[in-house]
Amino acid sequence: MTATKARIAAAVRGVRISHAIVRRGLLAGLIEAEECYGRTSSELLSFSLFGRSAYLALDPRDIGLVLHDTVSFQRDELFLKAFRDLLGFNAVSVGSEEWQVVRQRTLRFLTGKNLDGYSRIMTGVLEQRMIPEWRRKSRDGQPVDVFHDLLEYSSRVVFAAFLNVPPEDVPPHLHGMLNEMFDHVRRRVFSFVNLPIWIPTAQNRRFRELRTAVYEFIESRIAHSRGTGSMLETLVDVHSTGGRVDRQRLLEEMLGNLIGGSETTIILMLWTLYYLAAAPELQDRLYAEIAAGGPEPARNPRSLLYRCIIEALRVRSPSYVAVREAVRPVQVRGVKIIAGSHVFASQFITHNDVRVWSDPQRFDPDRFLRRLPRTASDYTDFFPFGAGRNICTGQAYAFQEAVTAVSTLIRRFRFAPAAAFDPAVRAELTLRPARQVVMRIEERPASDTARLGPAMEVPPPVAVRR
Ligand code: HEM
Repeated sequence: MTATKARIAAAVRGVRISHAIVRRGLLAGLIEAEECYGRTSSELLSFSLFGRSAYLALDPRDIGLVLHDTVSFQRDELFLKAFRDLLGFNAVSVGSEEWQVVRQRTLRFLTGKNLDGYSRIMTGVLEQRMIPEWRRKSRDGQPVDVFHDLLEYSSRVVFAAFLNVPPEDVPPHLHGMLNEMFDHVRRRVFSFVNLPIWIPTAQNRRFRELRTAVYEFIESRIAHSRGTGSMLETLVDVHSTGGRVDRQRLLEEMLGNLIGGSETTIILMLWTLYYLAAAPELQDRLYAEIAAGGPEPARNPRSLLYRCIIEALRVRSPSYVAVREAVRPVQVRGVKIIAGSHVFASQFITHNDVRVWSDPQRFDPDRFLRRLPRTASDYTDFFPFGAGRNICTGQAYAFQEAVTAVSTLIRRFRFAPAAAFDPAVRAELTLRPARQVVMRIEERPASDTARLGPAMEVPPPVAVRR
């Protein structure tokens, strides 16, 4: 093909893909990009997006290069701006000068001893609130709206853990608020006309209402945080000078962490339980493992519980795209990328790519007995938490929360989808199920559950770089 023809072809693809992104969202646009190339190419796919050149990395070697080369590729300002506009400065949106410091302190609160404390909160919330309620529903033959109930679990846990509040003191009106705020960020990321937050549109007003409610709750806990060693106490300390607290910075950083600890983890637990509900034999195998093993299976990446969660992270990764901007001209395996280009790598596309995973749509935790995911810098075929310098700081927390919930719930109940199983997705800021997930639950006989050991502790699934 001549150079002119190639340019025309790229422009036509650009129009198709930009149109798909505007009409149907980023993921649909990237899938369209893949389709434009006929789903056979494993090169870096090029197109133009709103006048800028853009690429989709499909080959795990390219994904590895892009996510690990932080000199040439940085997180894309286009997307960070929406976070910053609404949520201010937090561990995701902070500028590069402060990033390392903020990242380190966030990590400290999401690993090690702190995580052990959160694990007790997680178990307590399940045992005291969710399980009694589900028992009642199971006896009455009522189905459960799993997203709704996991939302309450996750919200109670994250407020209790990060602000050091007894879980029962987390006001119910806060449940759902973190997710609703996350949804506002999503709308901003994918919309072209974003009015400043102070302009009183209905959406801006609602966002400010939510933020005020969460800020008020955080502020109400500051006086109680003294001497607790909690995340809140630490943030009060680091944002204080000469006895004066920089409330704005404190509230923004705290809010960012609270939001980080909610939506994505709920989606992970939801998909894991949903796939298990659709596979009764697998569910029974998992129950048998939990019944026989106590804490050991979850410590072991070869355990079925561990593999079920990893497999859910593969097939329906809550985070479905990583976006980078080339900050200088660079070559990726022979393809010249000019500075200012957007580069995308999609967990959803790569984790479900037949060129990378066999029978990728099948929920098959045993695939991880045969083949471990590779996340080395030169080959990234599995990156639910990203990869490289900006790898998720919350992965151990997310994994702990999912392991605790799935093991505790599977040991008490049998799950079945209330309607036909439907793995279709709705790509918002996270990858949600397209339709509401409602399940029928049946309580397991008490004699079965009595033999089981205590709650489980887990290592993070992908090594955290410090
Ligand atoms: C299943 C749950 C989760 C998933 C799938 C997930 C996914 C991700 C991904 C893919 C990234 C990298 C983004 C990029 O490279 O552009 C990321 C970064 C991040 N995540 Fe998570 N996350 C989860 C849970 C959490 C939790 C629980 C927290 C905190 C409480 C958290 C806080 C963060 C932060 C602060 C970053 C930015 C790190 C940096 O840039 O240094 N995440 N997450």
